[in-house]
Amino acid sequence: MIGALQTAARLHAAALADVQSALDPAADQAQAIDGIWHLMLWVCVPMYLLVMAALAFVVWRARRQRRERGDVATASEGSLYNGLGIWVVVVMLGLTVLTTASYLVDRKLIPAQDAQVKIRITAKQWWWQVEYLNDDPSQQFMTANELHLPLAQKTHVELRSDDVIHSFWVPNLSGKRDMIPGRVNQIELTPRRAGKYRGTCAEFCGLQHAKMSLLVYVDEEKNFASWRSAQLGAAPSPGSEVLEHGKRYFETTTCAMCHTINGTTAHSLAGPDLTHLASRSTIAAGALPLNAGSLAAWLSDPQRQKPGTNMPTIDIEPDDLNALVAYLLSLK
Ligand code: CUA
Repeated sequence: MIGALQTAARLHAAALADVQSALDPAADQAQAIDGIWHLMLWVCVPMYLLVMAALAFVVWRARRQRRERGDVATASEGSLYNGLGIWVVVVMLGLTVLTTASYLVDRKLIPAQDAQVKIRITAKQWWWQVEYLNDDPSQQFMTANELHLPLAQKTHVELRSDDVIHSFWVPNLSGKRDMIPGRVNQIELTPRRAGKYRGTCAEFCGLQHAKMSLLVYVDEEKNFASWRSAQLGAAPSPGSEVLEHGKRYFETTTCAMCHTINGTTAHSLAGPDLTHLASRSTIAAGALPLNAGSLAAWLSDPQRQKPGTNMPTIDIEPDDLNALVAYLLSLK
């Protein structure tokens, strides 16, 4: 039993290691942070070992001297002062190296203003609103809880908040950056390895702090372009009676009071934009996988899945629920 649990824990850690680890950098910024992490390790570990060795030595010597003479030794104070002097120099050198290195890494993390892709992420209780910005408004679109970034291009991310303090952290790509109401923070991401990474909220933000994940897909340029053009389009129109039923339900009930689906009459921004919901792999900021079962469970009792969420519980008939789930899953 315990063996099986250990195996499961190891597998879980291994599965996360490449999607959520600051020690497996996949972007320039994470690479810089990884560099200083190792520098600090290799400067501090020898110093720690020297201090421990010196401590062990003086304890051993004091005991021996007490045994031999029965009193405190008056060993040469000169060598003590020399030793301390050398140690002060070593510590000063180590601190100078670390301070300079952290200054240089900090410079590398400052966003330049020449990014190819510009994103605005707004912190919400408890999800991430994502806007892909463009000087041409017709090229802008919204999504939620998942990012797509083009490989080897600079992405500038503007971080804002409405009503909560989150900390944006995708360990494989860069360090942490707070999202604070009334303040605009920035971060730059230059991914160098395609793949799927997992970000998380790194600041305790209330009831649902633990269910605040953010999936980041680093795409080859071609895939990014096709994802982007799909997101720019309106939602597909329903191709069957059931889907039509679902759409009608969405537009005429409380759903439309909080959400947007482009191409329908629903245009509210209180909750996530659902125009291309079915192109995402999770719902409720990574709390549940996206499939018919979890969507039905979420819609019929959101407080059970994510206590404290602002998604209200609606009194929905089984027929309507089935049609609504089918419609939402058709929003590719
Ligand atoms: Cu947001 Cu913790």
